[in-house]
Amino acid sequence: MSQETLSNLLQENRRFAPPPELAASANATAETYAEAAEDRLGFWARQAERLSWSKPWGEVLDWTNPPFAKWFVGGELNVAYNCVDRHVEAGLGDRVAYHWEGEPGDTRTLTYADLQGEVNKAANALLELGVRKGDRVAIYLPMIPELPISMLACARIGATHSVVFGGFSADALRKRIDDAQAKLVITADGGYRRGKPSALKPTVDEAVAETPSIEKVLVVRRTNEPTATHERDVWWHDLVDGQSDEHEAQPHDAEHPLFILYTSGTTGNPKGILHTSGGYLTQVAYTHHAVFDLKPETDVYWCSADIGWVTGHSYIVYGPLANGATSVMYEGTPDTPHRGRWWEVIQKYKVTIFYTAPTAIRTFMKWGDDIPAGYDLSSLRLIGSVGEPINPEAYVWYRHHIGADRCPVVDTWWQTETGGIMISPLPGVTEGKPGAAMRPLPGVSVDVVDDQGQAVPNGGGGFLVVKEPWPSMLRTIWGDDERYVKTYWSRFEGMYFAGDGAKKDDDGDLWLLGRVDDVMLVSGHNISTTEVESALVSHPKVAEAAVTGATDPVTGQAIVAFVIPRGAAEGTEGEGFAKELRDHVAKALGPIAKPRQIMVVPELPKTRSGKIMRRLLKDVAENRSLGDVTTLTDGSVMDLISAKLPAAK
Ligand code: WT7
Repeated sequence: MSQETLSNLLQENRRFAPPPELAASANATAETYAEAAEDRLGFWARQAERLSWSKPWGEVLDWTNPPFAKWFVGGELNVAYNCVDRHVEAGLGDRVAYHWEGEPGDTRTLTYADLQGEVNKAANALLELGVRKGDRVAIYLPMIPELPISMLACARIGATHSVVFGGFSADALRKRIDDAQAKLVITADGGYRRGKPSALKPTVDEAVAETPSIEKVLVVRRTNEPTATHERDVWWHDLVDGQSDEHEAQPHDAEHPLFILYTSGTTGNPKGILHTSGGYLTQVAYTHHAVFDLKPETDVYWCSADIGWVTGHSYIVYGPLANGATSVMYEGTPDTPHRGRWWEVIQKYKVTIFYTAPTAIRTFMKWGDDIPAGYDLSSLRLIGSVGEPINPEAYVWYRHHIGADRCPVVDTWWQTETGGIMISPLPGVTEGKPGAAMRPLPGVSVDVVDDQGQAVPNGGGGFLVVKEPWPSMLRTIWGDDERYVKTYWSRFEGMYFAGDGAKKDDDGDLWLLGRVDDVMLVSGHNISTTEVESALVSHPKVAEAAVTGATDPVTGQAIVAFVIPRGAAEGTEGEGFAKELRDHVAKALGPIAKPRQIMVVPELPKTRSGKIMRRLLKDVAENRSLGDVTTLTDGSVMDLISAKLPAAK
C-alpha cells in the first residue's frame, strides 16, 4: 500500500475521553503499558498467575524454533478446572455463570456449581464413549448450554474440540471432520432461528455418511422435531444425564491442544487454526479483564457472537469463565420475535457490558433509532465492537443510541489466529476515536510496515504486523506446518503478517483498513474499501455500504458502491440520489474516491460471520457469473442485488 492511502485519511476529529468514574477504578491503568513495555515476558508471567497451575512453568517463552512458540514451558493446568471448579472451591458456586435465553423465550440459569456438575457428567460420558486425551471431537450445536458444557468437557479430559458453526453445510462440516480426523460429533436435533426450529441432525447425518473417523454421534434434544436415527447415534439425555457429577480433572501440558477452529480464508481449503492451553487461557482471561474492565462481582456481561466463531470461544466461554464472570447467552437472531429483542435482553438481565459486531450495529441503524429507544439500557457501562473496521458513523450511533453517550466504546482488533484481543483502547485510559482501534494492548507488539517491512512513521500506512510472539497466538495450522509458515511468517522476515492494511495517525494511533486484498487501485492511487464505505455511511440516508473495485479501461479499477438506505430515509432512488452520494464521498475523501457507479440494494451478501463478501459484488460489478456462494448466509441475496442492476453496460 502506498502513501496515497494517507491522503484519503478519514477526516475524523471527534474524541471521547474515558468516563472519570470508570477511570478512577479501572482494571488497567496507564502504568500497565509502562510495566509491560519494561518487561514483556515478566508482564505475561504475572498475567498467567491469574490461573491456577498444577505444575509451575519454567521458561515463560521458548522461541528457539520460530515461528513455533511454546509458552509457559513445562507448566501444567486444567482449563476446565480453571474455568469452573476453582470458582466453586472459592465459595462462588452460587454465582450465575450463564443466564441463558432461548429464542422461543425459554430460559436456563446455570450457576458455577451447576456448570461443574454438568461438565463433569459430560466428561464422564465422553470417556464412556471411548474419547481419550488427544482425540478430536467435532461440535455442531446451536447456542444452547450444552455447547459450552461440551467444550469444557473436552478440555477437562484433554480432548481437542473443533466447533463448527451451526450454519455451515454438510460439505463444510465433512471437510472439517476429515481434516481433524474427529472421532465423535456432538450435535442436536436442531435449534431455533427466526421463530422456527432449524434442523441440524440431517446435516450431520449427511456429513458423517462419508467420514470414516467418526465412531459416534451424540445428540442433544432441543427442538423435539423428529429425526432419523442411526446405530452410531446416542442421545445426550440417555447417556449424559445419568452420569456421575464427579470427575477428577487431570492436569495437561501448557501446550496441550485445546481446540482447532477453521477459518475459511479467501482461497484454498479452510485452515485449522490450532490453539493450546496455558498461553491461550492467560491472554483471553487478561484481555477480558482489562479491555472490558470486568468486575465479576457486579457486572453482567453479554457477547452477542455465536460460539461457532472465535469471538464466542474466547469471549463467551474461556475468557469470561476463567474470570468468574456472569454472562448472558442468547440462542437466536436479533429480530425474533421482534427487532427489539436484543435490547429487551439487556433490559431484562441488566447487562452492564455488551460486545457485538459492526454488521449488527449497522443493521440496527437501518431498522431505526426508535427501536432501542423503547428499552431501558441504563445498566450498560461499556460497549465493544469486533469483526470489521467500525465505520465512524456506526461508532457514534452505537455510542449515542446504545451507550447513551456515557459508555466508552472499545473497538477490538484481533483474529481467529491471534486467539485474543491484540489492539484496543483501554477503557479507563485511552480516549476514543470513532473508527480507530487505537493501541496494541500491554504486552503486545504490533506495528505498521511498508512493503519492505520497514516501520512507517506516524501519518503513514501499510501492512499490520505483529513483531513478537504473544501467548494466545496460533501454534500452527492443524497438520500443515508449512502452510502456517508460508501464510503468516513469510511475507516479512521474523514478523507475523496479519493480512490487514492499517495506518498510524499523527498521534501514532492505529486505524484498520480491512483486508489488504480489499484495497483498490484507482488511477494509480490505493484506496481502501473501508474508507469509501465509511464515507458513504456518514451520509444521513445511508445505513450500510459495500464497495469494490471493478476493472475499468481508463482508471485500471473503478469504484463501485452498493448501498442500503436507512429505514426512514426518503429520496433514496434514482440518479439524483447517486449523484448526492458521489458528491458526498468526493467531499469527504477527495474526487479520486468518487464511486463510478452506485447501486441501491435491499441487502448485502455476507458470510455467516457477518463479513461482507466483496468478491461476489466484484463479480456483479464486472458482470461475471458469480463465484462460490456457499459461505453466504442467504444465497437469495445475490438475486435481489442482480435484479436491481441496470442492464449490463
Ligand atoms: C479479521 C479476522 C476477531 C474475531 C472476529 C473475526 C477483521 C476484526 C476488527 C476490528 C478492523 C477487524 C480483520 C481481521 N477485524 N476485528 N476491530 N477492526 N478489522 O475473526 O474471522 O478471524 O477475522 O477481521 O480484517 O483480520 P476472523
